Amino acid sequence: MTDNSTQNTPSPISIEMVDDIALVAIDNPPVNASSQAVREGLKAAFERLAADPAVKAIALYAKGRTFIAGADIKEFGKPPRDPSLPEVCATIEGTEKPVIAVLHGTALGGGLEIALAAHARIALPGTKIGLPEVNLGILPGAGGTQRAPRLAGIRAALDMITSGRHVPAGEAKDLGLLDRIEEGEPRDIALAMAKKALAGSLPTRRTSELSVTPDDAAVEEMAETLKRTQPRLFSPHKCVEAVAASTRPFAEGVKRERALFLECMESPQRAGLIHAFFAERAVARIPEKGAEPRAIASTGVIGAGTMGAGIATALLLAGLPVTLVERDQEALDRGRATIEGNLAAAVERGKLSEEKRAAILAGALTPTTDMEALSTADLVIEAAFEDMAVKREIFTTLDRVAKPGAMLATNTSYLDIDEIAAVTGRPADVIGLHFFSPAHIMRLLEVVVAQRTAAEVVATGFALAKKLRKVAVRAGVCDGFIGNRILAHYRKAADYLVMDGAMPEEVDRALTGFGMAMGPFAVSDMAGLDIGWAARKRQAPTRPADERYVPIADRICEQGWFGRKTGRGYYLHPEGGKPTPNTDVAEIIRDERGKAGISPRTFTEEEIVARFTTAMIAEATRVLEDGIALRPIDIDAVLLFGYGFPRFRGGPMHHADTVGAAELVRRIESYAGEDAHFWRVPDLLRRMAEEGHRFADMNEG
Ligand code: 3HC
Repeated sequence: MTDNSTQNTPSPISIEMVDDIALVAIDNPPVNASSQAVREGLKAAFERLAADPAVKAIALYAKGRTFIAGADIKEFGKPPRDPSLPEVCATIEGTEKPVIAVLHGTALGGGLEIALAAHARIALPGTKIGLPEVNLGILPGAGGTQRAPRLAGIRAALDMITSGRHVPAGEAKDLGLLDRIEEGEPRDIALAMAKKALAGSLPTRRTSELSVTPDDAAVEEMAETLKRTQPRLFSPHKCVEAVAASTRPFAEGVKRERALFLECMESPQRAGLIHAFFAERAVARIPEKGAEPRAIASTGVIGAGTMGAGIATALLLAGLPVTLVERDQEALDRGRATIEGNLAAAVERGKLSEEKRAAILAGALTPTTDMEALSTADLVIEAAFEDMAVKREIFTTLDRVAKPGAMLATNTSYLDIDEIAAVTGRPADVIGLHFFSPAHIMRLLEVVVAQRTAAEVVATGFALAKKLRKVAVRAGVCDGFIGNRILAHYRKAADYLVMDGAMPEEVDRALTGFGMAMGPFAVSDMAGLDIGWAARKRQAPTRPADERYVPIADRICEQGWFGRKTGRGYYLHPEGGKPTPNTDVAEIIRDERGKAGISPRTFTEEEIVARFTTAMIAEATRVLEDGIALRPIDIDAVLLFGYGFPRFRGGPMHHADTVGAAELVRRIESYAGEDAHFWRVPDLLRRMAEEGHRFADMNEG
């Protein structure tokens, strides 16, 4: 008997009776999130089955690719709708008949909490379980912080809940969170296990009735560690408080958990982190989504410098063979050595097995100085010197050498891809794949679509990113595309702050305080000051006359100080030691301020953050106006995954919405009094301020 709900839309919960056993199935694709309909269906099903004398045992399982992967995140921030998940868990656990949960795929968050409320848990091999709520700025709010310690102990529960990590079934069984691991189909296992429970050969019990052994040392240790490692985040600390409450009677513990959960739900970090979760996925919605990607089985990389070697490493780690091309043997050997180093580090980090590393070096990497060797590659990525003449020459050769249908990509950071494509007889095959250094680690990939790039080539770029486990964002052609164009602008704001009175380390401190992974001056030192110097020399002839120019970085470079690689830049970088501010740079700054007749003023951390982020948002708005980014959320993804913007703030456009367009316009207009060329209000932002709109409104569709 299958009993679907009688409502108009079929319920995601169905019941199948096999003799005296009720099999309750959840079917809510794609990940069986516990939406309102699931919660309502489960509560109704368990209430009905509990009251039905013909039912002796109940087994819960899910259809599709996974057991419940958590609460429905899309419902967060909206008015809550009954029944709540804790209520559903209480109904399940309170059932007088044995209740078995059968898990497969990823049983996460609220999904695992439902399973913890069952009277026994069985998982298929390969299942992963976890309480990843902390990654969304919240904590397990349906008894997870109370039931997990009852099964696995306080220390293990703290580890799982504060890290959010996915625990493999074997380890979860060892921890006591799972009772058995069984091979088969979820429905069949559900039936078999319910029979065992009835026969008495599968023990069942209520988790909430178990006691917790207090472990104050574990609680204190975790609290201390998190104070040090996550000082700016809100929810990890609340997770510890909730788990600590598990030593109280269950009813009190869940009450405490609920209160802390609601505090987290109200926090702006929750909204930021959930926005970041959706940003990572939203960027895949591109106009070319319907196009069939081309098959990529072999690749070529031109240029074996840091970028080329990093890109080659990323491709190799994803299992793709790479032909690596350089002009001379010496550069090729250096490139190979960089790749070997990258792979060795991947083994050390546990990302690659020793056998795989050996196999890659034995067969998957082919270094050569012969461009003809690229004739069989399905994809060639050019990562040579950032110079138009060099790129034109390479693409002219590629046009001759590459096979028909090969995808030809450039890793340029700034140059005009239309101009590069134009030297070939096949501009539809040409695209920008802009990786971020180190290319085998950074998750962002800008897929830069030129005027004539074919839809299936764009789709191939996105498919490749998925294979490389990167976040691909679609960008249009302009100087710097999305990320570097915005960076060029906010970087100037940082220079102006220093010229007008702040020290580089003060600017860096304010911005890391805001949550940026690094401050802009520390980033410059890391990237190499010579790179910006070369760019400024190139741009000098076309620099607008009314643009304010800060010569401090040039003066630093004139000393031969290029940052970390020379041991000196804005900071001194002692071998193996911590960077300290370079006092000689302070001298240069004072000197340049003097020459420009500037009397330095004091900026508070708040002012530094306001100017820096406002400059970022203003240029990001122009990127949007120009159609270089599809939606505000795409810009958020670029800054989050490529530029160290704090995840808990959701990205610059999400952050802009929390500040409000009217306030941003007010700020820009007030700064414009000092520099009307740099501080201009984008038309879009002005309209948003007038009409009361938010960037979030533009993310739909
Ligand atoms: N709610 C709503 N939608 C969800 C979702 C959720 N919990 N989890 C995934 N989705 C959506 C994704 O947005 C995506 O939608 P799209 O195709 O429209 O972009 C689709 O499901 C597929 O997701 P992925 O692309 O991420 O698929 P993967 O197979 O790569 O990953 C996953 C699957 C591991 C389940 C991953 O989606 C994931 O980690 N999800 C979040 C899990 C989570 O955080 N759960 C805890 C929720 S909070 C909670 O439970 C509170 C409770 O304690 C009260």
